[in-house]
Amino acid sequence: NKDKDPTMNDERFLVIGHRGVSGLAPEHTIPAYDRVKEEKGDYIEVDIQMTKDGELVALHDTTLNRTTNGTGEVRDHTLEEIKQLDAGSWFNEAYPEKADESYEGLEVPTLEEVFQRYGKDTKYYIETKSPDVYPGMEKKLLELLEKYNLDGANEHSSKVIIQSFSQESLLKVHEMDPDLPLVQLLWYEPGENGKYEEYSGVTPSPSDVTSEDLEEIDRYAVGIGMNYRYDGELFYDEDFIKEARELDLLVHPYTVKSESDMNLLLDWGVTGMFTNYAGKLHDVTHDE
Ligand code: G3P
Ligand code: CA
Repeated sequence: NKDKDPTMNDERFLVIGHRGVSGLAPEHTIPAYDRVKEEKGDYIEVDIQMTKDGELVALHDTTLNRTTNGTGEVRDHTLEEIKQLDAGSWFNEAYPEKADESYEGLEVPTLEEVFQRYGKDTKYYIETKSPDVYPGMEKKLLELLEKYNLDGANEHSSKVIIQSFSQESLLKVHEMDPDLPLVQLLWYEPGENGKYEEYSGVTPSPSDVTSEDLEEIDRYAVGIGMNYRYDGELFYDEDFIKEARELDLLVHPYTVKSESDMNLLLDWGVTGMFTNYAGKLHDVTHDE
């Protein structure tokens, strides 16, 4: 992708707050997002789903079951219905040692509320989740970016990066706004077809990601993001990272927890990481 700006973010290493600081607060809630900035993270990662009435909301799963006190598919509920739900208490129950009374009754934020709260004071790393389930999701996303002046020529500051496992979704965004930096996510799990293989459009096995695959990704994206471990087992290696970096692709593995993995991946030359602990990654990557 010769149009992309290789100086994106001044080639700074990027600390990406995965679902917010979701190791310490309920994922995709305002307290989790607030902490990204407090802990000096560069990007808030926002997974988006779409409600029955076409509103983009910050949720990882296509169902409400895991992270709210509701049940069923997000797409079968209106925003008004979803706004009644408690998106914080599950965290207190799952992690009593991290529980905080203030998490009880937290709302599911809309993407628009997130933009209204942080404006241009932060950066957003937005994932179109299950775009095959939500026709028109990309158009809605771009309309919101335009409304909040987050679209267009943002390549120098890269206020917004769009990521997806779905190549088709990224290509739709690219066609509508070629200025938006895109990251192709890769998923690999050993054995039969990985859960994302059917719609990622890109061969997910690290040993099978060929130079041609990387060159194809490079035509529309500025980088890749991959699960560098599955079930504790390490995939990928320094040579793979080098090959991607020779194309100037950004390399952002997910989801990095331990300081030893942070250091290993830094040694390999990755250019950022998704982590549930933005403060820890900031401390590992900054001397001051
Ligand atoms: O977007 C990077 C990483 O978040 C992908 O995995 O399932 O946490 O969205 P997931
Ligand atoms: Ca994600």
